[in-house]
Amino acid sequence: MNRVYIFDTTLRDGEQSPGCSMTVPEKVRMAAKLVDLGVDILEAGFPIASQGDFEAVDAVSREYPWVQVAALARSTKNDVERAANALKHAKRPRIHTFLATSDIHLQYKLKKSRQQVLDEACAAVVQARQYADDVEFSAEDATRTDWDYLEEISKAVVGAGARTVNLPDTVGYSVPTEYGELIARMVKALGDTAIVSVHCHDDLGLAVANSIAAVQAGARQIECTMNGIGERAGNCSLEEVVMAFKTRPDRLPYKTKIVTEHLYPASQLLSQIITFGPQPNKAIVGENAFAHEAGIHQDGYLKNKSTYEIIDPHSVGVPEGRLVLGKHSGRHALGQRAETLGYTLSKEELDELYKRFTTLADTKKGVRNDEIGGLIESVKNALAESATIR
Ligand code: KIV
Ligand code: ZN
Repeated sequence: MNRVYIFDTTLRDGEQSPGCSMTVPEKVRMAAKLVDLGVDILEAGFPIASQGDFEAVDAVSREYPWVQVAALARSTKNDVERAANALKHAKRPRIHTFLATSDIHLQYKLKKSRQQVLDEACAAVVQARQYADDVEFSAEDATRTDWDYLEEISKAVVGAGARTVNLPDTVGYSVPTEYGELIARMVKALGDTAIVSVHCHDDLGLAVANSIAAVQAGARQIECTMNGIGERAGNCSLEEVVMAFKTRPDRLPYKTKIVTEHLYPASQLLSQIITFGPQPNKAIVGENAFAHEAGIHQDGYLKNKSTYEIIDPHSVGVPEGRLVLGKHSGRHALGQRAETLGYTLSKEELDELYKRFTTLADTKKGVRNDEIGGLIESVKNALAESATIR
């Protein structure tokens, strides 16, 4: 009842955003990490889009036969056939076909009527079922689609053979209360005939919140990416949504199969493969996610980590909670760093070190360990000299 499937689209939606394109060997390398991570469904590409995407889906299917591999296809004959061919060697293939359903897309992009779109969506699902038992249909721009029509098309594609109905917030326009209501209505309409899936973009910074609201309303599949990469502002961040469930089971009693210790290594590998990493203050995997600089925080943290840390860094694969020493740092943290660096300081030495340290820290963004070592040496020398003079 409370199991939520993680559909990873780092290699598809993530990869199709600027600075994120990956070669076939890079996708296979990244897929290995996603497999370690325990994602349930791994979307490896959009085979009609390029030869590379076709080969990536094929390579991932051969390399990880026990994994459910998905390939994306528009709701056309050629696309579905191409996806099916790319998945030929997959033991657990999923064809993921999509078509826009909002009037904005129908009028300006597709120039088709609602009935035409409904017929094409069903035809694509019927065709896909000839190749795979596991077929997902996505109603692109679902959140700007008329709800009655969305319900009609969702029921129709399930009737045609879709097992999963995905209702994307394609343009990141929805807000949690609204998305929750939409999902609750579609979950009620579909009952146990299909899994309702969500796919949220982050244009308003609400992708994770919207995904959580959807799960609370009955959705049981979340489409997401490592580091939240994806079109424009990105997709729902896998690490954030998974850790929200793990950290707050009292409020969010949902289970995934993600081995959270692999989150940071997966994030690091992705950053090496694409052209950028997460911003330093990115939740869970950012450089500063477990760094404490303010003196009051450092003091509390050193007395008991739970004062300022809600997640054990080791549980997400981050080697150590890091204290950054800078102008906000306190004497307690400085003394502890000196000890880590192998120094034993008298009270007088620590007082003098702290004075020199704050003067230096005022002029820069953070003080490195070698600089602290240098300060300690100079303090020890200066105090030793004045003792000799006395
Ligand atoms: O954002 C979107 O609507 C998509 C679909 C293809 C699932 O990426
Ligand atoms: Zn998307």
